[in-house]
Amino acid sequence: MKPIYVTMPFLPRENEFEAILDSSLKLRILTHNGNLHQLLEQQLTEKLDVTSISLINNGTIALEVAIQALGLKGKIITTPYTFIATANSILLKGLDPVFIDIEDNGFNLDPELIDEVKDKDVSAIMPVHVYGLPCDDESIGQRAKGRGLKVIYDAAHAFGIKKKGEAILNWGDASTLSFHATKVFHTFEGGAVVCNDPLLKNKINQVRNFGYTSDSFDITTLGTNGKMNEAQAAMGLALIPYLEEIITKRKHWFNFYVEQLSEIPGIKLMTIPSDLEYNYSYFPILVQSGFSLTRDELFNRFQEENIFPRKYFYPLITDFSLYKNYNIISKHKIPNARKIADSVICLPLYPDLTEDDVSRVCEVIKRAEG
Ligand SMILES: Cc1ncc(COP(=O)(O)O)c(C=O)c1O
Repeated sequence: MKPIYVTMPFLPRENEFEAILDSSLKLRILTHNGNLHQLLEQQLTEKLDVTSISLINNGTIALEVAIQALGLKGKIITTPYTFIATANSILLKGLDPVFIDIEDNGFNLDPELIDEVKDKDVSAIMPVHVYGLPCDDESIGQRAKGRGLKVIYDAAHAFGIKKKGEAILNWGDASTLSFHATKVFHTFEGGAVVCNDPLLKNKINQVRNFGYTSDSFDITTLGTNGKMNEAQAAMGLALIPYLEEIITKRKHWFNFYVEQLSEIPGIKLMTIPSDLEYNYSYFPILVQSGFSLTRDELFNRFQEENIFPRKYFYPLITDFSLYKNYNIISKHKIPNARKIADSVICLPLYPDLTEDDVSRVCEVIKRAEG
């Protein structure tokens, strides 16, 4: 039986990528704000309906660039239910994460718990739109404003998502994206920072380019090398015409899963709010009491059938040895995050799945049900 992986990158057809890249090879401009880079920034600004976007070489560096450009110090409130890169970016910039729990019945940071973090050293909040489901921006924004905190949304999963017709990438002081090969839209590796403030955008562009400004050789800001190269930008440009097809196909398989799995006792599915334009990036299921197997037993059944879903996110960041050494984490209890991390499995979801693949995945669950 052929293996079915949790995801598989979408590729443009024929020689479309090579043809786009060729123009930059001919010019021998392979990186450093080349023509393809500029074109991709332009096209994504329009497609995503955002004020401005700065391309970055990956989503982790995008987070670091945002922290640096906002001049954050001290501590950042974030969630333990996310990919390791969210918290690592905070540590890598020399700040400390403060982990608070996620909402009951959700996947995102619980805004009310921000009030429990009284620490004067906190300079920002870094919520994550987990699986692309929007955080409660109103509540987070109010709390941030009241205390003079900045908000950086880790929007790695939120490519193209709109709530009530508004791009959620425009929320907060900045939002970061990941264009990793496995994401809805990719540039092999890649990422971006989105923001509304032109002064902050200038700073972001300086930070991603060693601190250089475009018109001076003086360095006034500490910077890194966060530049996206032309091969990455060429892949992005080659994929933009396919965005509708990518989302439509993902939606098709998402709905197929819903049809097959929604009536199974003990298997809880994610619900998409009706006011959301979703990107169908993930299909998490929660294996709860009432199902015949535990999450780990079901996960092992999949492996036996040559199907490789992911426990995404498990373990919680606070359970990694590195993070256990940060005594700050023990102050705040995280029962909701633990419950979700212990029951979640993300099923395979990508455009090139076949009906046979998705049926095989569903059969494993149905057979276990009896
Ligand atoms: C929530 C979240 N944040 C950050 C990242 C890091 O992005 P990248 O892999 O592009 O560095 C990822 C990537 O998977 C992610 O899922």
